[in-house]
Amino acid sequence: MQLLGVTVIMAFRDLRAFIEEAEKIGEVAKVLGADTHSEIGPITEITAWSPEHPMILFDEIDGYPIGWRIAVHSLDSYKRMQLVYGFPDGIKGIELTRWWKNKLDHFVPVGFKEVEDGPVFENIQTGDDVNLYEFPAPLWHQKDAGPYLISGGATVLKDPETGKLNVGCYRGMLYDRNTLGHHLAAGHNGQVIRDKYFALGKNCPVAVSLGHDPSFQVAASEGVGFNENEFEFGGFLRGEPYEVVRGPLTGLPFLSTSEIVLEGEILHPDNEPQRVEAPWGEAHGYYSSGFPQPPLRINAVYRRDNPIILGDPTLRYKNRGAAGGFPKLARAWHMLELSGLEGIRGVGRVGPYFVISIKQYYSGQALRIADYAMSGLGDRPPRFLVLVDDDIDPNNRNQVEWAISTRMDPASQIHIQRERWTSPPNPAGLTPEKRMIEDYTVGTMIIDACKPFRWREDWDKMFLLSDIDEKLRKQTADKWSPVLGQFITEPKPR
Ligand SMILES: Cc1cc2nc3c(=O)[nH]c(=O)nc-3n(C[C@H](O)[C@H](O)[C@H](O)COP(=O)(O)O)c2cc1C
Repeated sequence: MQLLGVTVIMAFRDLRAFIEEAEKIGEVAKVLGADTHSEIGPITEITAWSPEHPMILFDEIDGYPIGWRIAVHSLDSYKRMQLVYGFPDGIKGIELTRWWKNKLDHFVPVGFKEVEDGPVFENIQTGDDVNLYEFPAPLWHQKDAGPYLISGGATVLKDPETGKLNVGCYRGMLYDRNTLGHHLAAGHNGQVIRDKYFALGKNCPVAVSLGHDPSFQVAASEGVGFNENEFEFGGFLRGEPYEVVRGPLTGLPFLSTSEIVLEGEILHPDNEPQRVEAPWGEAHGYYSSGFPQPPLRINAVYRRDNPIILGDPTLRYKNRGAAGGFPKLARAWHMLELSGLEGIRGVGRVGPYFVISIKQYYSGQALRIADYAMSGLGDRPPRFLVLVDDDIDPNNRNQVEWAISTRMDPASQIHIQRERWTSPPNPAGLTPEKRMIEDYTVGTMIIDACKPFRWREDWDKMFLLSDIDEKLRKQTADKWSPVLGQFITEPKPR
């Protein structure tokens, strides 16, 4: 919301409040009467590729009570992202990334506030009364192994060694009335915590929220490390503490205004045989193959009247709108600067390339920054990291490609690294042999497209830019704009 030109972040109490606000600004489309097995998934997919698309609210879902809804595309537009982040109107690209990075630089944890009760407890089922089939669970992609009840959820876990809380967004396939397959990918904090319980011979307690203020999903899918927690990060993002209640069975906190919360435990492989989870249509654009996972047994369901499930299936080329991508870049930039290394001027992305622009002060500096970036900076390491000088906008494809083609000698400025943590569903480099032994590591590449440092003094003298100079450009533009107005371009960035 803009008041006197100042953006005010709105702390949404819940998913309903967010949808109401999105409706007010014309960003919600309602779809009535679709079914879960052949319509909700396809509708979600065929609307996901347009540059900016509305949030879709499915209601009157075939076979389910009127008012039990599914909302998809919650954050896939500039304006809906703005509702959550509160950035000033109009800023884009590196300016938007810098704006959020500057906020992260001043991160203050905003802890949650505990309350005794909340709407999430309006309806309760426990033990044998638990029946997950009551909820609409779509077949999101045609060849998924089955319906997925959890796609935009947020799972709370507690580290058994440190007592620290963790929240992650992990998908969940519906197996039967009280069991799900829950995919905690190798290397995510959730997997590490789960396996700590298993090492102690215990099941891993969890509380999974299926619908919440989108700031909480942002927090759940943000690369928050082990020394921060997502409740505090989400509280910081929305500018207000979340209100939480404690799960009666696990003692885990969850939002008092969640639409649905499932309390349960991921079962230790000695207590329950593993079950195959997936195939599932991944963000990479291929189905991941199914493999055995410890199942998640649900012991209690808490839900509001007329609950809304937040759906967010991964889709190839899903277009997250004009604001898409900046939060990850901002976090990477923020973490990169925590290294204390000098000269980091910007972080961006062009296609598959993660790009850092650098002001060079000494030889070896660019690769020193690259080594730090290759820790992953809150995510998996980039597969292709491009280093450019600070005259290049790291989000501008033309400029980045120009730097690669004119400043980079493949014989000496490409650096291959081996056996780096990667995303298991991405086929590239993960051979059948590696998959057999669950080795999810591949090679990564640093493309150093900075001007070679040893030439820095001579470069600009040896290689003169052929662009028109600013004075002549302006003179020409002024004189000829009455004839050529709309065709006269801004100066080429240098
Ligand atoms: C829509 C969506 C679906 C996701 N699905 C999964 C998933 O099924 N499994 C997983 O491990 N990570 C998934 N992720 C990524 C994680 O939520 C994200 O990397 C998060 O930071 C992991 O948290 P953790 O390191 O605290 O476990 C998904 C992210 C999004 C936005």
